[in-house]
Amino acid sequence: MFSTLMLAMTMLMSCTLNAKENDKSMTQEESGKILFINGSPNADGNTAALAKVLLEGREYETLNLNDYRINFYGQKLEGDQFEVVLDKMKKADIVVMGSPVYWHNICASVRAFIERFYGFVPEGTFKGKRFFFLYQGAAPTQMMIDDGEYTMKRFAMMYGFSYEGMANGTNEAKDLKNKLEE
Ligand SMILES: Cc1cc2nc3c(=O)[nH]c(=O)nc-3n(C[C@H](O)[C@H](O)[C@H](O)COP(=O)(O)O)c2cc1C
Repeated sequence: MFSTLMLAMTMLMSCTLNAKENDKSMTQEESGKILFINGSPNADGNTAALAKVLLEGREYETLNLNDYRINFYGQKLEGDQFEVVLDKMKKADIVVMGSPVYWHNICASVRAFIERFYGFVPEGTFKGKRFFFLYQGAAPTQMMIDDGEYTMKRFAMMYGFSYEGMANGTNEAKDLKNKLEE
């Protein structure tokens, strides 16, 4: 009777441990603060869906660029919120930038945002932080994908991020998730 009880207790403890080992969820304290910047006007669209795959099990904040007024480079209109977004980015440890393919390249909101860094944000500002890129479209050609990634990779590296890679679909987002967990 006693040995049966001990066996049952051992099995229960082992199950609990295995469940913990398989549980890949992490708090922000464990994984660092993650900011997902979505350049799509669709808060729940295909770009956001890729972020859900990449960041599954992680706590993260989503910032929809369309909710912010960001002047074009050189524009001096009132109410500009570029620095609001920049400050949020500075507080993150991991930045996930998402863009739909628009007109064969990254979308205008993402481009307008990164152009504003030029001459304003010192190079290397984001040293020690990680950058992931989500970039998908209806039927992008390889050239569109390569061009968009070239820009985002150069941007990330110029400002000191470690560029961790890009995902264009669910399978790539799952692969990139392994990188995120390194
Ligand atoms: C203005 C505009 C331009 C687009 N241009 C392209 C394009 O050049 N190539 C492409 O593959 N898809 C293009 N698309 C399709 C979007 O990239 C596609 O629907 C994407 O999944 C939208 O992402 P979302 O759901 O996150 O908004 C375009 C869509 C819009 C609205």
